[in-house]
Amino acid sequence: MMKVRINLKKEIDFSYDVLIESGLLGKIPKDLKNNPIGNKYAIITDSNVNRIYGHKIANGMISEGLTVCMLNFQAGEKSKNINIVEYLINKLIDKGLERNSAIIALGGGVVGDVAGFVASIFLRSIPYIQIPTTLMAQVDSSIGGKTAVDLSKGKNLIGTFHHPKKVYIDPLVLSSLSQRELQNGLSEIIKYGVIYNRGLFEYLENNVEEINKRNVECITHIIIKSCQIKSEIVQKDEKEENLRAILNYGHTFGHAEEKCGKYETHLHGEAVTIGMNFAGTLAYRLGFWQKVDLQRQNSLIKSFNLPIKSNFKSNEILKVMYRDKKVADQRIMFVFPEKIGKMATSNGKYKITVPEKELVSLLNEFSS
Ligand code: GLY
Repeated sequence: MMKVRINLKKEIDFSYDVLIESGLLGKIPKDLKNNPIGNKYAIITDSNVNRIYGHKIANGMISEGLTVCMLNFQAGEKSKNINIVEYLINKLIDKGLERNSAIIALGGGVVGDVAGFVASIFLRSIPYIQIPTTLMAQVDSSIGGKTAVDLSKGKNLIGTFHHPKKVYIDPLVLSSLSQRELQNGLSEIIKYGVIYNRGLFEYLENNVEEINKRNVECITHIIIKSCQIKSEIVQKDEKEENLRAILNYGHTFGHAEEKCGKYETHLHGEAVTIGMNFAGTLAYRLGFWQKVDLQRQNSLIKSFNLPIKSNFKSNEILKVMYRDKKVADQRIMFVFPEKIGKMATSNGKYKITVPEKELVSLLNEFSS
């Protein structure tokens, strides 16, 4: 027998910086001039962000002598699909982007996930950077390299791990967000407090009013803390083999809630807080954490005007939950808190299966 070995063991450094500074947006063109990541750039954004920031960044880049084109699509979760990916890739080819070109994802979570996915598959992958313009994207989706699009059967069912080369976070861009969008992002920050950092949870409790009033210092503080927490978790478990799964707290139910509402009833963060109430209640029923902690979580959620009650029927939710990525051997997996700032494990694993009887009984009480 002949054996031809394909030796692929190698060490690759995918490390990158997340830069956070008020007013950073205006400094990006110069930074790209000084630290280029491509010979040409395509800014991928959505119809809303394009109007506010797209041309500002593109013009700044042109002034620095960089070659840049703009591509945009209709804002909203409904655009996070494979047809948009094909449309964008055709445009990239028409605009002459090559293997040494780069993509700039300018926008919220949908833009970041779609543009990151396009970057990961275009010409078998090109580099990209993230410029998140929503609180949700700044504290969660722009960091960690998860890219995805949705299928009609569910959310994020096609995706890759492809880390950005850099993430630029400018807290001042949040001034253009509606209060609902701001609260949407706060949902993931509350989640970080519950799953990993009691100090952040208590900071949120003590600063509800200032945060709701958008005090820039408070908002910047919680962005920095969240990025540090996410970075720590991703560094420990990049490919979600165990610990990273705690970031999915509230998401098993949340994704089903979003899908049942056809992505129109709830924003992602709103569905997640409903899911945190569900997973938290289940955790209490199964003896993982105390009722006082569940109540404390839920009152913090409510103080930011975020929902905890589902809008859908239990059988609809259950059907969609079975299609989620978090199902293994046809059993739905959850992650559960043990106390504020710490998640529970079972046999060293954060993902815990739940007896269907418990799940259905709580679903019947929980859903409309
Ligand atoms: N948003 C969940 C994760 O990045 O793993």
